[in-house]
Amino acid sequence: MDGTQLQRIKQRYGIVGNCEGLNRALEIALKIAPVDLSVLITGENGVGKEVFPRIIHDFSGRRNKKYFAVNCGAIPEGTIDSELFGHEKGAFTGAIEQREGYFSVANGGTLFLDEVGELPLQTQARLLRVLETGEYIRVGASEVRKTDVRIVAATNVNMEKAISEGRFREDLYYRLNSISISVPPLRERGDDAVLLFKKFALEMSEKYKMPPIRLDEGARQMLKAYSWPGNVRQLKNITENMSVTSEQRDVTADVLRSYLPEEKSHRELIAVPAGQTVNSFENEREILYQILFDLRRDVSELKKIVHENAGRHSGDERPTAGTGVSLYRHPAIDVSAATVPVEPICEAEEVKENDEPLPETRSLDELEKDLIRRVLSENNGKRKQAAAQLGISERTLYRKIKEYGLE
Ligand SMILES: Nc1ncnc2c1ncn2[C@@H]1O[C@H](COP(=O)(O)OP(=O)(O)O)[C@@H](O)[C@H]1O
Ligand SMILES: [Mg+2]
Repeated sequence: MDGTQLQRIKQRYGIVGNCEGLNRALEIALKIAPVDLSVLITGENGVGKEVFPRIIHDFSGRRNKKYFAVNCGAIPEGTIDSELFGHEKGAFTGAIEQREGYFSVANGGTLFLDEVGELPLQTQARLLRVLETGEYIRVGASEVRKTDVRIVAATNVNMEKAISEGRFREDLYYRLNSISISVPPLRERGDDAVLLFKKFALEMSEKYKMPPIRLDEGARQMLKAYSWPGNVRQLKNITENMSVTSEQRDVTADVLRSYLPEEKSHRELIAVPAGQTVNSFENEREILYQILFDLRRDVSELKKIVHENAGRHSGDERPTAGTGVSLYRHPAIDVSAATVPVEPICEAEEVKENDEPLPETRSLDELEKDLIRRVLSENNGKRKQAAAQLGISERTLYRKIKEYGLE
């Protein structure tokens, strides 16, 4: 396909961008449009998937027939079958009239099933049947009807995962996915982010009758480096927001930063030592270890308090009400509200019972031992540093090393 043809298409549909990924997606869409097969458009939220089914319809033999877009994620589970396939009068409470579904009204045309990953399983079964045989039955009917509809579906859901978790039928996935088009995230589109910004800034200046905002070099670099979790939609919203509220029409990196949500990366959640790669599984394990460790420490603190209170109580001294012990302290998990008010505990016998080792304690021991061993080796056996990393005193670490025979 030559560049001018692609350019014309972009102009016609208001698509901005020149990156390879976007161009490839558009080329595939144009190429397969006349081939009467199902298409699955994949891509993160806000990448611009919705224009693709329209292009496919407009460049197919069905262009003079109906085009319908249905957002499967927005229709309540109870009514989606009726919306898609229609229903008979009296099929369910409230079905006062017979109703045609999209598969009937779009006959001969194209049906865009957006957020197809959200379809309930029972609707997936009906959809599979239509795709395989062209047949469907209205809700509450017994008569089989025929239809000829081309399906273009879109999803931001990881379909392999949905399949493995039993939320999406594998056979339907293969049916829908005869051809797939993947729309790249904005963070992979290089200079396109700047082009899109310019387009949106002009649109907003017209909409709000204000001079357009412009980016200086620093802001341009920041725009390109940002991760854009909400992709083009997010860029559009932020440009609109800045266009309306920013005093400065020349946007600097500092101004832009104040509009961008802070990037939350694994690296911020837990400090990854330099040179070590981020591996999400390892990091999760690390957080869990840390939580267990904190939990364990808190349990022993609680025990201590219980002991002290019991002792004090026997000496007829009541503890101050409202003492709080924080259960979780890990910064990645903010459960600051999870404090346990320590009630005065009177039964000294109960305290004794609590001293019995619990079955779970053993596995906690194992985990703690493991963690200490790992942190010690990370710190080349330097106890001071290891204790600081573990958040315990050197003395406690020393005791634990002895206890676990880690010397
Ligand atoms: N390449 C693009 N050029 C211009 N506008 C775009 C582009 N991609 C997305 N948009 C705009 O971004 C918004 C989100 O796109 P949409 O198709 O709804 O995303 P999603 O992939 O979530 O369905 C829409 O307003 C759309 O017009
Ligand atoms: Mg969408």
